[in-house]
Amino acid sequence: MCGIVGYIGKRDAAPLLLDALRRLEYRGYDSVGEATIHKGKLYVKKGRGKIEDVHRELKLDSLPGNVGVGHSRWATHGEPSKRNAHPHVDNSGKVAVVHNGIIENYEELRQFLRDNGYSFSSDTDTEVVPNLVSYFMKQGNGFEGAVRKAVGRLKGSYALGIVSVSEPDKLIAVRKESPLILGLGSGEMFIASDIPAVLPYTKRVIILEDGEMAVITPIRALVKYTDSGKAIEKKPLRVAWTAEMAEKHGYPHFMLKEIHEQPEAIRETLRVSADELAQLCKMLLDAKRIYIVACGTSHHAALVGKYALAKLADVSAEVVISSEFQESCMVDGGTVVLAITQSGETADTLKAVRVAKAGGARVACLTNVVGSSVTRESELVCHTYAGPEIGVAATKTFAAQVAYLLLLAFNLAKMRKCISKVKFDELVAQLQETPNTIDAVFERTEKQIEELAKRYKDAKNIYFIGRGIGYPIVMEGALKLKEIAYIHSEACPAGELKHGPLALIEHGIPVIAAVVPGSARGRMLGNVEEVKARGATVIAIAADNDEEIKRHVNELISIPVTHELLTPLTYISPLQLLAYYIGVERGFDPDKPRHLAKSVTVE
Ligand code: F6R
Repeated sequence: MCGIVGYIGKRDAAPLLLDALRRLEYRGYDSVGEATIHKGKLYVKKGRGKIEDVHRELKLDSLPGNVGVGHSRWATHGEPSKRNAHPHVDNSGKVAVVHNGIIENYEELRQFLRDNGYSFSSDTDTEVVPNLVSYFMKQGNGFEGAVRKAVGRLKGSYALGIVSVSEPDKLIAVRKESPLILGLGSGEMFIASDIPAVLPYTKRVIILEDGEMAVITPIRALVKYTDSGKAIEKKPLRVAWTAEMAEKHGYPHFMLKEIHEQPEAIRETLRVSADELAQLCKMLLDAKRIYIVACGTSHHAALVGKYALAKLADVSAEVVISSEFQESCMVDGGTVVLAITQSGETADTLKAVRVAKAGGARVACLTNVVGSSVTRESELVCHTYAGPEIGVAATKTFAAQVAYLLLLAFNLAKMRKCISKVKFDELVAQLQETPNTIDAVFERTEKQIEELAKRYKDAKNIYFIGRGIGYPIVMEGALKLKEIAYIHSEACPAGELKHGPLALIEHGIPVIAAVVPGSARGRMLGNVEEVKARGATVIAIAADNDEEIKRHVNELISIPVTHELLTPLTYISPLQLLAYYIGVERGFDPDKPRHLAKSVTVE
């Protein structure tokens, strides 16, 4: 949530800040702004709306100066508006701050500042920060000292970028519980919420950790503990991602590109080191109780993992939505928690991890982002290799998570002697073949899906049904449709229809059914008949050797046959495409769904 950037160097800061903000827009896009310093004066431009709209009106790249900060906002405190947009500036117009996170004690700090003659012009929690810095500067502190004193008064979470006209040769970055990286260039330095922002300029990054700050000049980024001011030796990382990977390559939207990148995301992820997988298997096998915690799409991948672990490896894992973990779960020294989060920054998942650790549990994580917050909280760090995902809706990271979890289940099943070596080799070979199968799914279904999107774009409600491993597939399909096309959609375990949801089925209502091969298929056909008998228009996704299904449904999306456990990888693409094309038909931007942001760093 919210993207922050900063630059100090020889070049004009404003165009670079704008470029970096465009690369971070997936983190929030209800307002945007930049501040630069030039010849002892602070310049600020900001406005409500998406970056391109605000830029068209204000020319964000025209601010003068070689140092500055920028911000793309996802509102928490205060409605999206020009006055609530960042950067926020102190009363004297000398200190500018961009902030990602939440200052929990901002009311109390506002009162303190008001008592000292300060006033406020926004509804944000952030505005206290530049004014506190200014307050401590007036008390005789230098820029860095004032920032450290100000930050000492803050409660909550924050990644901050701060500049001051009093010391225009410095950019200060501070981090607590919100992501922040430093990009180390040659004669120039960057700060950003996420690595893709700096990829065109440098591959050398330092990941700031909680309680750390950096005092940055064009030639040096000095990292220190924020409380003591003591310097810390930090080794820069060299990132393998390229700027190209974070571009659209002729696709109209990142979402469409990333849907099509799923085969590659799976191939890369399946190259996981044997050692990492063995360590995770051992950790799970040693556990008395296993929880998998995740949110949103990662939660759906977790459910696929649960089915695969139970069906194949006889391993029982409870999947818990991260924000519910502390409310409902029993944790002790025998508990293992696997946290799944593509960004590695989701506050709810980080909280679940901390609660688990406090209760004595061991924690492993599965994330797509090297060096993300969850990696620092986990005893064992496992990675998917989907590459940067820019579209707000998770697509290729889902495929990568599912591929990883299936490989994990296959390995556990072999270790526990639930399957033979021959069966294991056969399953792994089939999993390695799925990228090609998914390419075939695109070939076969994309035109059909575009047609379906035209036909169903005005539907008010669309229901999804599935059984067994088909259930997480339809949960993910329904979530995609909600967030991208803004159509009310609900996923229901098909067997549960008769316990209530069937009452909502009326003539002409679209019902999307994932009919996966395996033991539940026959019962699933019965459920398809139940909704058809009540007038629903049934669109089924099924294996192409399933002759019988054709007689039961109005429309068939036919998928090359795979093992039942691989269907979450092969069936999900048509559902992602359906959400994408309906969203586009309805005139929405699929990369920037309203009210949502890529990395959800608030609880
Ligand atoms: C849906 C989506 C969200 C995320 C959720 C968890 O398309 O993107 O539901 O899946 O916010 O995010 P991570 O995996 O980063 O923890």
